[in-house]
Amino acid sequence: MIRCEDLVKSFQQGGDRIAILNGVNLSLEKGESMAIIGSSGSGKSTLLNMLGGLDRPDSGRVSLCGQDITALSDRDMSALRNRQLGFVYQMHHLLREFTALENTMMPLLIAGHGRKSAQQQAAALLEQVGLQQRLQHKPSALSGGERQRVAIARAMVANPACVLMDEPTGNLDQGSAQSVLELIQHLQAEHRTAFIVVTHDPRLAATIGAVHRLDRGVLSACADSNE
Ligand SMILES: Nc1ncnc2c1ncn2[C@@H]1O[C@H](COP(=O)(O)OP(=O)(O)OP(=O)(O)O)[C@@H](O)[C@H]1O
Ligand SMILES: [Mg+2]
Repeated sequence: MIRCEDLVKSFQQGGDRIAILNGVNLSLEKGESMAIIGSSGSGKSTLLNMLGGLDRPDSGRVSLCGQDITALSDRDMSALRNRQLGFVYQMHHLLREFTALENTMMPLLIAGHGRKSAQQQAAALLEQVGLQQRLQHKPSALSGGERQRVAIARAMVANPACVLMDEPTGNLDQGSAQSVLELIQHLQAEHRTAFIVVTHDPRLAATIGAVHRLDRGVLSACADSNE
């Protein structure tokens, strides 16, 4: 489903090149999920960006559904990403000109679904995350947690094989975090969606399953999920 081998990434900082990922390996089969923890600056978002094909590693390979994405052109990568991946960024990245409903419909429209069915599916997901009263709001008229929930609905609406989430419940109160948790459980059970979730929320980590820690550029399984 999704796998990476010997992923290495460094960034230029001043005169130095600082290694952030130092040989990360992971492999998830269909229906498997993983939570990732690690201190601020340890490279969690950097890792998700590599897995989602938003940035390229210095060396190593990422494959998604059997395809080596590090070898794809940007255009082919975008097409694969739209079909197989959902992404919830640490910052929400909604389109400003569009309403919550339109933002959520976008992956379906890009995939060629009709407007009406896209609208119905998007509205149903927004309702599941408690936003049935906010369908026509633009991002500027939504709170931070509401934007995050729209981003979550959008990531899941096209039923992707794998969903990558970066602190999805970071801005949410207990009730909203709970509905996100239930949505994840539903997709895991019904569609065997694979989730890779960066989170410091112990309940979310426990729902997701195996907890891994990113430390000094290497990812390893944790015995317990308490930081
Ligand atoms: N484009 C970039 N150019 C230079 N340095 C970068 C770049 N992106 C990230 N870094 C550095 O890489 C390190 C890891 O950043 P990253 O955002 O992956 O951390 P993180 O684990 O997600 O942290 P947080 O928990 O705070 O979100 C940081 O020290 C950051 O300064
Ligand atoms: Mg981050």
